[in-house]
Amino acid sequence: MGTEPPTAEPVIRPMTAQDVPAAFQLERRLFPHDAWPERFFYDELAQAEPTVAAHRATRAYWVAEDGDQLLGYAGMMCVLPLADVQTLAVAPEAQGRGLGSRLLKLIEHQSQLKGAQDLLLEVRADNPRAQQLYLRTGFEQIHLRRAYYPDGGDALIMRKRLSAPPPRVGPIGSDRGDTP
Ligand SMILES: CC(C)(COP(=O)(O)OP(=O)(O)OC[C@H]1O[C@@H](n2cnc3c(N)ncnc32)[C@H](O)[C@@H]1OP(=O)(O)O)[C@@H](O)C(=O)NCCC(=O)NCCS
Repeated sequence: MGTEPPTAEPVIRPMTAQDVPAAFQLERRLFPHDAWPERFFYDELAQAEPTVAAHRATRAYWVAEDGDQLLGYAGMMCVLPLADVQTLAVAPEAQGRGLGSRLLKLIEHQSQLKGAQDLLLEVRADNPRAQQLYLRTGFEQIHLRRAYYPDGGDALIMRKRLSAPPPRVGPIGSDRGDTP
């Protein structure tokens, strides 16, 4: 136990304030040069359900866990018409098993439900692993921001165009089916 890689399919659920210390620990491991301060997580969660009502929530965050071990987390922002991947992180010992893809899919799905037209993200130019994941899942590079990161690293801005969720079927002659 302890050093064994996790074997069961990790559970993904919404992030709560109780998860922040563990998420911050992982954040510092994965982003040693530009880790978010811990309070960023609390600030982000303050704009997510259930702290704010669903229709006012501009953020959504999830954690992936195996038992009490936090293996990853992801967060998004949606201010229509755009959604943004705020963060995506998988613990080194859990990488390469599809967890990053699952978290990214969840962000994409939630963005579609919220009605976003595009999903945007920025990724370090020197992070080919993450770029591969994004390219494989349909993102394209639309900009390069030079010296975007505090250490002088460049950022690629990537975008995925989202299709609208299927319209709700209503009786003939009813409204368009997409009103709240
Ligand atoms: C980028 C990151 C989130 C990807 O997470 P992940 O869980 O490793 O992602 P996935 O497993 O879904 O996909 C990654 C690779 O594993 C492979 N993979 C997916 N499922 C697999 C499986 N069941 N068995 C073997 N390999 C698998 C994928 O083909 C992919 O390969 P490639 O990208 O090398 O071509 C993770 O590497 C990470 O947290 N990195 C550090 C933080 C970071 O850079 N975050 C992104 C900031 S923009």
